[in-house]
Amino acid sequence: MDTMSLFFLGIVFLVTIKIVSTWWGNRGNPPGPSALPFIGHLHLISSTFARDLANLAQRYGPVIFLRFGARPVVVVSTPAAVEECFSKNDVPLANRPQLLAGKCLGDNYNNLGWAPHGPHWRSLRRFVNTDLFSVNRLNFYAALREPEVNVFVKDLYRRALGGQREVKLRKEFIDVISNCLLAMLIGKRYYGADLDGSEEARQFRQNIEDFNHFILTPALGDFLPLFRGIDSIWLARKMKAFAKRRDSFMQKVIEERRRNMQEKGSEAKTKCVLDALLINQSTDPDFYSDKNLRGILDALISAGVDTVLNSLEWSLALLIKNPDVLDKVSEEIDTNVGLDRMIQESDVPKLPTLNNVINESLRMYPPAPLAIPHEAAEDCVIGGYRVRKGTMIMVNIYAIHMDPKLWEDPASFKPERFNAAEDVKGGLKWLAFGHGRRSCPGANLALRELAMVLGNLIHCFEWSAVGGHEKLDMNMNPGFFLARDRPLVAAFEPRQAMIDVLSQL
Ligand code: HEM
Repeated sequence: MDTMSLFFLGIVFLVTIKIVSTWWGNRGNPPGPSALPFIGHLHLISSTFARDLANLAQRYGPVIFLRFGARPVVVVSTPAAVEECFSKNDVPLANRPQLLAGKCLGDNYNNLGWAPHGPHWRSLRRFVNTDLFSVNRLNFYAALREPEVNVFVKDLYRRALGGQREVKLRKEFIDVISNCLLAMLIGKRYYGADLDGSEEARQFRQNIEDFNHFILTPALGDFLPLFRGIDSIWLARKMKAFAKRRDSFMQKVIEERRRNMQEKGSEAKTKCVLDALLINQSTDPDFYSDKNLRGILDALISAGVDTVLNSLEWSLALLIKNPDVLDKVSEEIDTNVGLDRMIQESDVPKLPTLNNVINESLRMYPPAPLAIPHEAAEDCVIGGYRVRKGTMIMVNIYAIHMDPKLWEDPASFKPERFNAAEDVKGGLKWLAFGHGRRSCPGANLALRELAMVLGNLIHCFEWSAVGGHEKLDMNMNPGFFLARDRPLVAAFEPRQAMIDVLSQL
């Protein structure tokens, strides 16, 4: 045989080996669209990703297999598949993928959102569940959040008195939600025009902007190992420098609070979450180290603002688009709260229509439409298919919330479908906060904040769409976070019946 024939024979042999090994490696995988060489399905990631995946689920079924570069991915899109993942396989699927952002911005996978399932993560969750998000603690911290909502309403009223009739609410929502969270967590406020000249506030706001920038910057090395070297030279260095700046900022906040507690001695009272953390530090200094304190605060601050703010924008836009529902909510508040005061958190359970609106808005526009990815710690079976250890698991919440087999007329705004909210939310068809042991710990806080801000906006002002409610656009950007395509701009006026309350704020 001549050299040329040997060469071609060699090529045919290698190609055959490759085809057989790919087939062998993929056997038992869930179905899915064919992958491109090298990048797999990375080309599918776009600003309409959640919607595109919902379309793929129509074609390939509730459990789909994709490959993001070298990383195997399984996407589940029905309540039954979610049940299998996070009830039956809850522990094996309770890990997070180890992405560059978790290493550089999540304290080397140590903070709450990134930590692998295990004793460290369990201790973090225990702290937030009992000392922060339990009903008692949320009630206790309500006194810190309520004044922030008043400041927000007062500012809008002041603007209306100054002749302003239209408002782009995104920045205002960032201010109020951030201040509510910061008041609870560290006893500080960094947002609002009155703080524009503060260097401390400027640094904090910059840190948040930098974080949001880095978390949305794709690290190619997470999916294509060839690029890991480039990521570590460029992106990882920038992320680590930012994390250092953020750490030194938060350390100063911790020192200040510690000094404050030491000066007060036995007189010191727990005012915010950081106080509770510092008290725990004296009895368990290893777990409640300053490093872990910074991690807990950073994890909550980074997860607790954008989700709520996007949901506020959608909820108010839906109400403006549906003036009859807006009137109904307003009447309900007048009847149950009265016209002589603002809504307080203790009023919220008495306002079922308002709560229905929030649930329906979270159904139609879930702020985290693909939840946060999980990772399989061991081989398991989902929907009869084999899912290998190391596979990234994504839940398409958006697809489930928009499935006509689960929801009648899913594209229509019908808050009354939540009249028996607990029954409707059961059965894993309403998943705005995820499901299982890694589901959102901040869900109850988020629901309270949404009701307080939205409820008081409706109670104190008349709202309408600039140019008529039919024209209000509801275009969305359903990528990893479901935001409005364009920020909401609304026309507003103080309610005459509430002028006395507003002028006393
Ligand atoms: C409307 C508002 C919110 C929505 C829709 C939302 C949704 C979610 C979802 C879908 C997950 C992932 C669940 C999973 O992995 O299966 C999550 C995780 C998380 N959320 Fe939220 N969230 C909201 C507000 C908040 C708030 C206010 C906080 C805290 C202040 C918070 C803190 C967290 C944390 C720390 C995690 C990670 C938990 C872990 O990995 O153990 N979220 N959230």
